[in-house]
Amino acid sequence: MQLYMALRDLILSGGLADADRLPASRTLATELAISRTTVIDALDRLVSEGLLESRVGAGTFVSHAVREKTQTQDLNKVSVTPSHIRLSDTAADAAARFAHRDRLPHQSSAFVTALPAFDKFPMAQWARLSARHWRTERDALMGYGDPFGLPALRSAIAAHLNTSRGIHCDPDQIFIVGGAQHAFSLIARLLVNQGEKIWFENPGAIGARNAFTGAGADLVPIDIDDDGMVVADGVNKAPDFRLAFATPSHQQPLGKIMSLPRRLELLEAASDANAYVIEDDYDGDFYFGSQPLPTLKSIDTHQRVIYVGTFSKTLFPSLRLGFLLAPPALVDPLKTLAHSSLSGTPTWPQAVVADFINEGLFATHIRSMRTLYRERHDALHRHAEAIAPYLEVQRASAGFHTVGFLKKPFDFRRFVDLASAAGVVLSDIEKYCIVPAKTKGVVLGYGSCDRQQIGAAMNKLTQVFEEHAKQIGLEKY
Ligand SMILES: Cc1ncc(COP(=O)(O)O)c(C=O)c1O
Repeated sequence: MQLYMALRDLILSGGLADADRLPASRTLATELAISRTTVIDALDRLVSEGLLESRVGAGTFVSHAVREKTQTQDLNKVSVTPSHIRLSDTAADAAARFAHRDRLPHQSSAFVTALPAFDKFPMAQWARLSARHWRTERDALMGYGDPFGLPALRSAIAAHLNTSRGIHCDPDQIFIVGGAQHAFSLIARLLVNQGEKIWFENPGAIGARNAFTGAGADLVPIDIDDDGMVVADGVNKAPDFRLAFATPSHQQPLGKIMSLPRRLELLEAASDANAYVIEDDYDGDFYFGSQPLPTLKSIDTHQRVIYVGTFSKTLFPSLRLGFLLAPPALVDPLKTLAHSSLSGTPTWPQAVVADFINEGLFATHIRSMRTLYRERHDALHRHAEAIAPYLEVQRASAGFHTVGFLKKPFDFRRFVDLASAAGVVLSDIEKYCIVPAKTKGVVLGYGSCDRQQIGAAMNKLTQVFEEHAKQIGLEKY
């Protein structure tokens, strides 16, 4: 292989173009101190690939075609250098166009966002179901999957949505995707043309924003108030919108819950504009009160809502499984798109999740996580008292993150860096904004760490605040 590759590179780079004839195999073998069989194997392979020609009685030569090519151009110079790479417009200015997103978190710690409670995941049950599937029929697990998703999982999700989110749908309307992020890209491909307007919550979800930016959409930042997305702001800025992206059950990142009048207003605005609404219900299963407000989808009499769900929060993110629920009119166009470009998501995890739901383990897990996240949320608040002079930590009523607003004019970036140096992760709200946020603040995730870790991290954060305040001469009040 070494000889073959060395000769091949030499031939292709023109290094042998002037050579009349290659040394005889016996000579090469002696000079290189290797077996003649090895030399013959390498030469034979180059002959069979058309790089060398063997003429009986005359010897082995660089093939005529390659000599011509290498004599007319210096292949070394044509090798790809950065200035030769031709990227699409989207990729060429990606750094400027897309919101910066660090690697998504993988390790539990205070106060990373987006991670559920790995410490309480029912590993034994998951392992039992996983093992069971490898003992069943091979074709079902090892062949290409259905591009729309495993039928058993689509049915299980439809049943779950019915009982837990008040959504009545046919499994045929459900498409399994590789996480919510994949759903957003698919929806953009289905509905959005270059330059068309999308109402986007500001601040709002970074991944979704990038999916729509990548599709060439014109993102219109829409204000958030205590009732959620301000629909009047959208109507004012872009009455001709094509799509609206909303997180009504728990606004990402501010945590507001969209009021019922606002939900109805949004549906009506979409119907008036012949637009669609994406309802990203990423953590809506984890509400702390009695019953939450109805999902947008469950009151969608105009059939305007595309509901997106993910297993990244209810189970774990490395599964890369989510789903979208399309209104009936979009089912066939989505099927056409999915058939043409999707090979489906991995079958085996889908089969395990379907069983997990059908055996009632999913509903039980969600119920216990609801209680757990509430406890972790309350712990965060108890420990936030000491920090209250500096940071006003908001009460959440769902999910596993909340926000804290700064009460003093700190050098905010420096503060986030100091917290990070002390081992506490804070996400600046500004990262979630298309236009600057109205208030300075941070997002605090409390799902993945236990009460002791939350307490210890809050104490550290208070210390960092106090030291920073002292350094810049701010008194505690
Ligand atoms: C607003 C929002 N939606 C959905 C998701 C889940 O995305 P995925 O299913 O691609 O992991 C996240 C992840 O943090 C999110 O912040």
